Amino acid sequence: MEKVFLETYGCQMNFADSEVVGSILTGAGYGLASTLEEAGFVLINTCAIRDNAEQRVRHRVRELRATQNRRQELRIGILGCMAERLQSRLMEEEENVSFVCGPDAYRRLPELLAQVRAGQKAAEVELSTTETYADIEPVRLASNGISAYISIMRGCQNYCAYCVVPYTRGRERSRDPQTIVGEARSLFERGYREVTLLGQNVNSYRDGDTGFAELMAMVAEIDPQLRVRFATSHPKDLSDSLLQVMASHGNICRCIHLPVQSGSDRMLKLMNRKYTVEWYLDRIDAIRRYLPDCSITTDVIAGFSTETEEDHQATLELFRKVRYDYAYMFKYSLREGTYAAKHLADDVPDAEKTRRLNEIIALQGQIALENNRLEVGKEYEVLVEGESHRSKERLFGRNSQNKVIVFDRGDAVAGTYRRVRVNDCTAATLLGELLGD
Ligand code: SAH
Ligand code: SF4
Ligand code: F3S
Repeated sequence: MEKVFLETYGCQMNFADSEVVGSILTGAGYGLASTLEEAGFVLINTCAIRDNAEQRVRHRVRELRATQNRRQELRIGILGCMAERLQSRLMEEEENVSFVCGPDAYRRLPELLAQVRAGQKAAEVELSTTETYADIEPVRLASNGISAYISIMRGCQNYCAYCVVPYTRGRERSRDPQTIVGEARSLFERGYREVTLLGQNVNSYRDGDTGFAELMAMVAEIDPQLRVRFATSHPKDLSDSLLQVMASHGNICRCIHLPVQSGSDRMLKLMNRKYTVEWYLDRIDAIRRYLPDCSITTDVIAGFSTETEEDHQATLELFRKVRYDYAYMFKYSLREGTYAAKHLADDVPDAEKTRRLNEIIALQGQIALENNRLEVGKEYEVLVEGESHRSKERLFGRNSQNKVIVFDRGDAVAGTYRRVRVNDCTAATLLGELLGD
């Protein structure tokens, strides 16, 4: 049997897509290789969000030349956002790539692989307005048997000025809610205890009468023992009705990822984010009102077009106000084809972007540590996930707020809920002790 080795870069949605790809290919008679050595194909599912994400993939493709020199039969295919963005240009620039396949074309992979086996090169990059892969049961590649991703919608049409996603993922479309609930129920029956509903902007999920809040309630009501998470929310669409549904379902996790991007109204407007700092802070207040114990995380970009020191200070100020539990922090990277690339200057020098980014990182590190110190002494229900990376004597799990807690294993078993008291912390991890049942 010909085997395929899958490598995945980028966001959670790409990881979820790789599981769909795994399912399509095993359905077509391919095996999934656990090492590169046994594979006839290596498929790299790629990210195009920033230049460094693409450089990492190009580096990997070039590194694979050495393996191909040893094993001529090894073929490389590029999937995902970089395939969509660069299309057949990618095969011209990286000559050892045999085919490219965009995110809406995965059903055609068996044909593409057949073409490549017949000695051709191939590109399939058509975007779709309807494809959701709703009927495909993903193979759980990265799974620990406890926690799984469920993709509920695809695409994005918010067109933030800096962002390539609307061009690589196409128009927004939502998946039939019954197939989502069915997938979550089947996971629960197989022992899974946590699902994360995924979309670029889950708040705009809609299928007929079912909006995101209704969908969340439907999934949460499968069983109180099933935890439900979601990502990502766009601040402009974070509704009170969603917060109410969260408040009335204890198994919807108390963690909201609410990317802010900048603390300056001038930047937000240039970025086409469609909200102001005041609006954003009102949404933060609403979260704290409905869900006092909710953790809040964010994404931020340093050094977007024309960003001044004053704009940057406004971002730091916003971080001090909100006091995020975690943040993904990035330097602005110009992406060809976006509004910003066409109409705005990438005029903040790289060294200045780095300085601003480092300031945000330092501030956020301090805030995360202070937030974690407030956790010491509290007790949480933790979904035990497995052994700590540092020591076999210790296990780790997460609380509803998505914070990792490490504790001495005692009689705890992975895949079950246990009460843990927090005794100590770092900026990234809580250290705790297992309590009796
Ligand atoms: N759909 C999500 C995020 C998708 S991309 C949302 O809208 O919140 C994840 C993050 O990457 C974004 O939130 C943004 O902070 C960052 N990002 C996107 N494009 C970028 C670019 N050109 N340069 C730097 N960071 C970028
Ligand atoms: Fe990109 Fe904006 Fe869409 Fe998020 S909402 S994926 S940042 S365009
Ligand atoms: Fe990257 Fe595409 Fe996700 S660009 S962040 S893999 S949607």
